[in-house]
Amino acid sequence: MKQRHPLALIVHGGAWDIPEECVETNRAGMLKALASGWQILEKGGTAVDAVEHAVMSMEDDETFDAGRGSFLNAAGEIELDASIMNGKTFRAGAVAAVQTVVNPISVARVIMEKSDDILLVGMGAARFAREHKLKMCGMDDLIIEREITRWRSRQTAQKPGSGKDSFRRKRGDTVGAVALDVAGTIVAGTSTGGIPNKYPGRVGDTPLIGCGTYADNEVGGVSATGWGEGIMKVVLAKSVIDAMARSGGDPTEAAKEGIALLKKKAGGLGGVIAVSREGKVGHAYSTPRMARAFVTSEMKSPIVLV
Ligand code: GLY
Repeated sequence: MKQRHPLALIVHGGAWDIPEECVETNRAGMLKALASGWQILEKGGTAVDAVEHAVMSMEDDETFDAGRGSFLNAAGEIELDASIMNGKTFRAGAVAAVQTVVNPISVARVIMEKSDDILLVGMGAARFAREHKLKMCGMDDLIIEREITRWRSRQTAQKPGSGKDSFRRKRGDTVGAVALDVAGTIVAGTSTGGIPNKYPGRVGDTPLIGCGTYADNEVGGVSATGWGEGIMKVVLAKSVIDAMARSGGDPTEAAKEGIALLKKKAGGLGGVIAVSREGKVGHAYSTPRMARAFVTSEMKSPIVLV
């Protein structure tokens, strides 16, 4: 008889200074995203479906900095980044600075599965999405009043692209998910609107394989959140995978090691979630708070932490 692997799913809605009044919406968003992925895994579905649906749920939720409701760049526009990686096939797909798709994670998935390319940007990514009949929209459909107000207030207060400071003062952050399915396949995915008031064309860690997202069936999967420029410098997601391999598969120790590396080498703040090939979950962060939720086949009920 073929051996069934343990199941695991962990999601995050970003690591940042979550104010008390946003805790409940973050919790609700985490639970909804977790449920949408878990029901797929429980029925024997694939990790790639579970990750796509969990991330889509958070992209569709205005609470988070991904999809509709994301931060605006300095030009008052939306530019979305996302990536996904399959640890079995070792294939990956990503989009950056895309402005007219509803769910960037779905475009990343189709790139992973149907293209020899890994990363498509801007109009090329939108063209690919249109050709593959993915859900398109106008950029205005992704912009909400709250973000227009924030953008207006920043035009006098801050010059574009002031990286670390933008990160500390923002409302929400990147979302991500990592899943292990019944076949033992690990998939990680991440999606973001980037940092508020970013310079037009600025791309962070999220769509870069190894920085925001990584999966390798022999070790585990990781999704990162936080200050993108720092995360890129330490290739955070792959660094956590390497730490997990060194520690014999402990995702909690590996996540802590990655966050310490981000601080030590780049002076950066952020968070990571991880799943090991054995189905253990881990998470760590250096910001005041991080929204995350997880469930495994060993647990009686999910855990949500904000
Ligand atoms: N971590 C998301 C970004 O910096 O764009």
